Amino acid sequence: MLVLGIESSCDETGVALYDTERGLLAHRLHTQMAMHAEYGGVVPELASRDHIRRLVPLTQSCLQEAGADYADIDAVAFTQGPGLSGALLAGSGYANALAFALGKPVVPVHHLEGHLLSPLLSDNKPAFPFVALLVSGGHTQFMAVRGIGNYTLLGESVDDAAGEAFDKTAKLLGLPYPGGAELSQLARLGSPGVFEFPRPMLHSPDLQMSFSGLKTAVLTAVQKVRAENNGNIPKQTRNDICRAFQDAVVDVLAAKSHKALLDTGFHTLVVAGGVGANQKLRATLSALTIQPHTKGRSKPPAEAVKVHFPAPEYCTDNGAMIALAGAMRLQNAQTAGSFDVKPRWPLAEIMKN
Ligand code: KG4
Ligand code: ZN
Repeated sequence: MLVLGIESSCDETGVALYDTERGLLAHRLHTQMAMHAEYGGVVPELASRDHIRRLVPLTQSCLQEAGADYADIDAVAFTQGPGLSGALLAGSGYANALAFALGKPVVPVHHLEGHLLSPLLSDNKPAFPFVALLVSGGHTQFMAVRGIGNYTLLGESVDDAAGEAFDKTAKLLGLPYPGGAELSQLARLGSPGVFEFPRPMLHSPDLQMSFSGLKTAVLTAVQKVRAENNGNIPKQTRNDICRAFQDAVVDVLAAKSHKALLDTGFHTLVVAGGVGANQKLRATLSALTIQPHTKGRSKPPAEAVKVHFPAPEYCTDNGAMIALAGAMRLQNAQTAGSFDVKPRWPLAEIMKN
C-alpha cells in the first residue's frame, strides 16, 4: 500500500511516499525559515500561502523519485492538527482534493503521533512498549506508548516547551530565528561551569517540567554581561551562556527520562521532535541506564536502556512521519476522513477506546 504524506502544520512543507512493504520511497521538504527570519517568527498568513505554492511540485518530485504515478497512490495522509489553522487548511485542502480526485481514502493524522512514530522509519525500530519523549518547539511531553493509538500522557512542561526555550534564549543572545540549532552549535564552543543556571522542577516528584524560569535566569545574566561590556556580549561569554543553558535543559530532560523509565518499568526510550536533533541531548540520553531505587545498603546493578532517535532529518517536521503514521492507522483500520483541521488537539484524544 502506497501512502502519500502531507505535513503543513507550521513553517515546513513536507511531502513523502511511504510503502507498507518497501518502506519510505521518497520524501521532500521545503523550509520557510529564511522567509520568516526577517520577521523574527512565523507569520501565519505567509506560511499558508507558501504551503499552497509548494505542495504540488514537492508531490511531483516525490513521485518522480519513487518511479510512481498519481494512480499508484492508495491513500493520502495529512496533518490535521495541532498547528496553525491556515497552514493546516492548506495541507488538508490539498490532501482531500487529491484523494477525492483519485477516489482514494484520506487519513487525518495527529502531528505529535507523527513525531512519536518517526523512529519507526529507521531500520532499527523500537519495540512496544516504550517511553516517548516528545521535544519540539510547541511540546515537551513524556508518553507511555503501548501500541499504535495507545498513548498515555505521563507528564509535560507546565510552561514553555524546551524548543521554545531554546529559541527564546537564542533570540536574547541575538541569534536569528529560530535559533535553537545555532545555540546548540555555539554551546559546543562554551566552557562548562562559567555560568550556572537553575534546573527547574528537577526534583519534583512527578514528570512535570518547567523551562520559563531558566530563560529568565539567562535574561538576568545577559543583562549583567551587557551592562559590564558597553551593551555587548563578548563571543566567548555568549558561547559559555549557550553551554550553561543547554546543560541545564539536557540535565532536566535526562533526569525526567530516567524517572519515566523507572515509573513505567519500560526499558526503551524513544526521543522525537526538533530538539531531538540536539547532539548533547542525544549523547546524554544514549548513555542513560536505569538505577532502581533501593531501601537497603547494597546498590542493585543499573539496568540497560535502549534509546532510539529518529535520523536528524526526521526529528524536525517532515512528511515521512505523517505518511508512516497514516499507513499505520490504515493498517489498524482507524480512518475517519475529514476536511476539518484541529489547530488545538490534545494527543490523548486519539487514544483507542
Ligand atoms: O518538531 P519541530 O520541527 O517543530 C515543532 O513541531 O515544534 O521542532 C522545532 C524546534 C525549534 O524550537 C528548534 O529550535 C528546535 O526544535 N531545534 C533544536 C535543534 N534543532 C531544532 N533545539 C536544540 N538543538 C537543536 N540542534
Ligand atoms: Zn513538529
